[in-house]
Parts: sequence; structure tokens; C-alpha cells
Amino acid sequence: MEQPLYTAKEYATLLGISKSALLKMENDGRLPQPEVRNGARAYHPHDIPRYLQLLGMPPLVETKRRQIFLNFKGGTGKTSISAFYAYRLAQLGMQVLLIDLDPQGHLTQCLGINHESFTSTLYNVLIERLDIRDVIMDTTMNNLKLIPANLDLSPVELALTSMNAREQRLKKSLSAIQDSYDVIVMDASPSIGLLNLNGILASTELFVPVLADFLSYHGLKILFETLATIEEDFDFMLENIYIFLNNYNASHNICQRAKEALEKHYSSYLMKTLIRQDIKIAEAASMGMPIHQYAPKNRGSADLNAFIREVFPNLPIVF
Ligand SMILES: Nc1ncnc2c1ncn2[C@@H]1O[C@H](COP(=O)(O)OP(=O)(O)O)[C@@H](O)[C@H]1O
Ligand SMILES: [Mg+2]
Repeated sequence: MEQPLYTAKEYATLLGISKSALLKMENDGRLPQPEVRNGARAYHPHDIPRYLQLLGMPPLVETKRRQIFLNFKGGTGKTSISAFYAYRLAQLGMQVLLIDLDPQGHLTQCLGINHESFTSTLYNVLIERLDIRDVIMDTTMNNLKLIPANLDLSPVELALTSMNAREQRLKKSLSAIQDSYDVIVMDASPSIGLLNLNGILASTELFVPVLADFLSYHGLKILFETLATIEEDFDFMLENIYIFLNNYNASHNICQRAKEALEKHYSSYLMKTLIRQDIKIAEAASMGMPIHQYAPKNRGSADLNAFIREVFPNLPIVF
């Protein structure tokens, strides 16, 4: 994963001003002088909030959001889509924290981070009361941070069982740092357990990727029944639930029928955006590269952009 840089024209577009206005304000001293790389101006995504402030424009997001990608079925795209989504949000200037909640550590790998390159995980935070700041890792992007996972996280389920307030420990740990991030994105494992329950209770929003087959569709029923009991037991309410179709192939009859079934039974949660089947998504994920870096002009990137526009309709700068 590389640190993305913008040209003056791209940066001006992101800020919603013309390139000449950007250059003029740099000359006037109203905006800082950018870095120069290979003879050209080079702008960083993490500076976008500061530029918006200097320009007297509103911040990228008004309300901080905590989002979890969850489905009790594996292989629906939780890890790849959450990683690409978070990277893209960071590319657009947001302060983003990704949390790998799966002891298999696929998200960590998806970001190109080696499982041996860190020694602490959420296990140490949730069970041993390590400060959550001590498990946050830098990535090659300044404004994209990661709480990684590896197999060291797997005993957490058992260890949580005997602890006080065992369902709310992640929420409590995050409360110390959540204001520093525009969005916190969690990638869950496909299971019903205490760690995922912690993830749900620490979130304000839920994303459920589903494949267009009927197995995925039936899994949704179990997920919604589980959510209903959580809402009742913990007096808890998610602010938004987004179901989206992933790996969609319009030429397959079963995809059409599964889509129709979702539209009929889950219309209030179903996103308009669907993510089409795209081999570049699988390739990018396996290489530990975000789709917007691996294949920025491909349909996978276009679908992710549409996805972000739907989740952040007021975001001024998605292109
Ligand atoms: N839209 C898509 N098009 C093609 N392949 C996809 C798509 N979404 C996910 N995949 C691939 O499907 C596999 C399972 O996805 P993954 O994100 O690991 O799912 P989960 O985390 O839900 O188990 C991965 O190889 C991934 O790259
Ligand atoms: Mg996964």
C-alpha cells in the first residue's frame, strides 16, 4: 500500500475549488506551499481537513460514525470491502481507524501487514486492560490507522466469558479515542460470539454484505433475529443498517432472483448500490492492495465510490 498523492488539479477538485484558485491562494499565502516531488506539486490526503478549515469550508463529516461489517456467513466480502472502503475514505481525507476483529487476521493481511510485525492485539486491551492506543498501528497512510489481529486474539472469546461487563468492553475502550476519528470501521468474523457482540455494541451502524444466493439470504434472518435480542437485552439501537449485494453478476438468473427477494423483504435496509463481481477485487485483496490503488478505473472502484456516496451523501468531494 502506498501513500497516495494528488496533483494540484485533483486536489482542487477534491476541495471543490478551481486549480487557479488553489494556486492563487498559495501565492497569496492563504494556503500553505505544497511539497514538490519530481518537479510537480504533490498534495496529501491527510491535509484535506486542514485545507477545508483554511478555506472556511465545513468539515468532511459532521457526525463521527462507528461501523461494523458483519454477516454470520463467511466469504461474503466483509474483509475485502471493509478494507477498500476504509482506504478510500482515508484517500478522501477522513481520519479512519480500521479494527480487525477476526483472529484469522485477514484484514490485517489485506492491508499488507505481516502477522509477525506486532505483538499486541485487542486481547491485551479487552482482557489485560492494555491502553487501546498501544495497539493502534500506523499504515503507509497517515490518516489510516489499524488495530491488527492474529491468532493471539483467538482466546479472547473464552477469556471474556468470566469478565465483568464482558459485552461492552470494546465500546468502553473505544470511548477514549473515538473522537479522534471521523469513522471507525470494524471487520468481524463470521460467528456469533462475545467478540462480535462487543463489536456490535461498540458500533452505531451495521453493514451486511450478502451474496446473491439463497443461502446468504436465509442467513440474514438469523442475523436479524440475533440483532433483535441484542437490542432488547442491551437497550441498544443501531442508527443505520445497510444490507448490500456483493459479488453480483447480473447475467446470472439466481442473482436477479435473490435481489428481488431482498427488495421484497428487506427493502428498508437494502442499499441501492451493489458491488459487482470483479476479479480485480479478488486480485487486489490477495495482493494486500486497496482496489483504488490496484485498479482505480475499474468497476470495483466505481462501485465503491457509489457505495460511499450513498453512505455519506453530504460528502462534498467524492469523484
Ligand atoms: N465483488 C467481488 N468480486 C470478486 N471477488 C470478490 C468480491 N468481493 C469479495 N471477493 C472475493 O471473495 C473472497 C471472500 O471475500 P472476503 O472479503 O474474504 O469475505 P469475508 O471476509 O466475508 O469472509 C475473497 O477472495 C475476495 O477477494
Ligand atoms: Mg473476513
